Amino acid sequence: MTTSLDRSSAPEPRADVGSRFPTDFLWGVATSAYQIEGAELEDGRTASIWDTFSRVPGATFGGHTGEVACDHYHRMPEDVDLIAGLGVDSYRFSLSWPRIQPGGKGPANARGLAFYDRLVDRLLERGVLPWVTLYHWDLPQELEDAGGWPARDTAHRFADYAEIAMNALGDRVSWWTTLNEPWCSAVLGYETGRHAPGRQDFGDSMAAVHHLLLGHGLAAQRLRETAPGPIQVGITLNTAHTLPATDAPEDAVAARRADGLGTRVYTDPLVHGSYPVDVVDDLAARGVQLPVQDGDLSVIAQPLDFLGVNYYTSHYFSGTDEDGRREVDGLPVVRQVLQGLPVTAMDWEITPHGFTDLLVRLGRDYPGVPLYVTENGAAFDDRVGPDGGVDDADRTAYFVEHLAAVADAREAGADIRGYFAWSLLDNFEWSYGYDKRFGIVHVDYETQARTVKQSGLWFADTIRRNREA
Ligand code: NOJ
Repeated sequence: MTTSLDRSSAPEPRADVGSRFPTDFLWGVATSAYQIEGAELEDGRTASIWDTFSRVPGATFGGHTGEVACDHYHRMPEDVDLIAGLGVDSYRFSLSWPRIQPGGKGPANARGLAFYDRLVDRLLERGVLPWVTLYHWDLPQELEDAGGWPARDTAHRFADYAEIAMNALGDRVSWWTTLNEPWCSAVLGYETGRHAPGRQDFGDSMAAVHHLLLGHGLAAQRLRETAPGPIQVGITLNTAHTLPATDAPEDAVAARRADGLGTRVYTDPLVHGSYPVDVVDDLAARGVQLPVQDGDLSVIAQPLDFLGVNYYTSHYFSGTDEDGRREVDGLPVVRQVLQGLPVTAMDWEITPHGFTDLLVRLGRDYPGVPLYVTENGAAFDDRVGPDGGVDDADRTAYFVEHLAAVADAREAGADIRGYFAWSLLDNFEWSYGYDKRFGIVHVDYETQARTVKQSGLWFADTIRRNREA
C-alpha cells in the first residue's frame, strides 16, 4: 500500500488559494462508513438498509455493494497514516449504526465499538482531530422493517444510539454531527427510491423529513446531556442552491419551491424553530401534512454549534415543462434545466459561483451559526498513468475554483471555519457503485492499493502553504 507522499512530485498550485484563509482554518478529508468500511457482517454488525438495497437487481451500477468497499475496516491503521501524511487537521468519518448497536436497539456491541475506539486513538496519536457523523444513511434494516424514518419511533431509537456513541467515544471526540444530508435520506430513500430503502411515496418522504429532524434534535439533546466535557454539535445539510432558469415569473416560483423543499424545510426549523409557511402551504395543496406533534419544533431547534454544508453544484429551475405546461398530473412543474456548463463525471454542472452565493446567503439568513464545508469535491474518470500516478488535473481545477469561491464568501462576511474535501478515497458511490471516483486518493479495488492522486498532492501542498502564510 502506498502510504507516503512523495512531495517532490507535488504539482505547482495553479492558484495559491490556501493563502486566502486564516492559519487557524480547519482543513480535512471526509468519508462515510458504508462507503469505505466493508466487513459487512463482521464482529456482530447486522445488515443496514444499504446492504439490502444494493442487492436488489438494478438498484446499483453493476450490482455493486459495500461488502468489501475499500476494506477500510481491516486497513484502518494504514489509512490513518495516509490521512496524517496529507497534513490535514481533521478527518470526518461516520459511525456504522448496525455495527455499534446491531438491529438499531438494545445494548451496544463492544466489538463494533472497539473498531471506532482504535480509529479515534490512532487519529489522535497522529495529531488528527476526529469529526464524527452519527448517521450517514446506513439505517439498521430492522428499524426499516419497523417503519424506517417515516415512523416516529426511529427518531427515539436514534437518540439512544447517539448516547451509546457518546458513552464510548465522548472522552476523546468533541465534534459531533448528527445527520448527513437528511434530504438524501428522505427524498432519495422514500420518494424517488434511488437510494435505500428504495421506497416511493411522497407522503412517507415528508414524514421522514420531520422524523429525521426530530431525531437530530433528540440526539443533540442526548449528546449534550451525556457528554463528559464540552462538545460541538451540528448537522450537515446538502442545502440546495436553486436559481430560476429565466426571468419568467413561473421560473422564480419553481426555484422558490425547489429551495423550500431543498433547503428551508431543514434550515428554518433547525435555526428558527418553524417550518416555512410557503412549504407548508405547498404540501397542503398536495394533501400532505408534516406529522408535527406539540413540542417537536423546540426539540428540533436545539442550539447549533455549527452547520455543515455539502456542496457539489447549483441547480436552475423552470416552472414549465418542455411543452410549456405549468402543471402536469395536477402538480406544479419544477423542472431542472441544465445550463450547458462543463460537467463532472456525475453530469453535475461545475458552478463555483453558486457556492459563494449559497454560503453568503446561509450566513445572512442564519446568522450566528458558524459554517463548515463538510464536503466538496468531484468525480472524474481517473486513469492510472504508466508511471503509476493519477494526473487528475480536472479535479485539482475543481478544488481551486471551489476553494476560491469559499474564500470569496468569507471575504463577503460568511463565517466559514473549515473545509473537508470529499473524499479521502475512491469509494462506493451509492447507486453508482464503484463506477464514480471522488477520491483524492485512488483505490485499486483488485489489490486495495492506495495511490495519492495529483489533486491529493495539491491539497496537501495547499494546506502546507496556508500554514506557512
Ligand atoms: C454527498 C454524500 O454525503 C456522500 O456520501 C456522497 O458520496 C457525495 N455526496 C458524492 O455524491
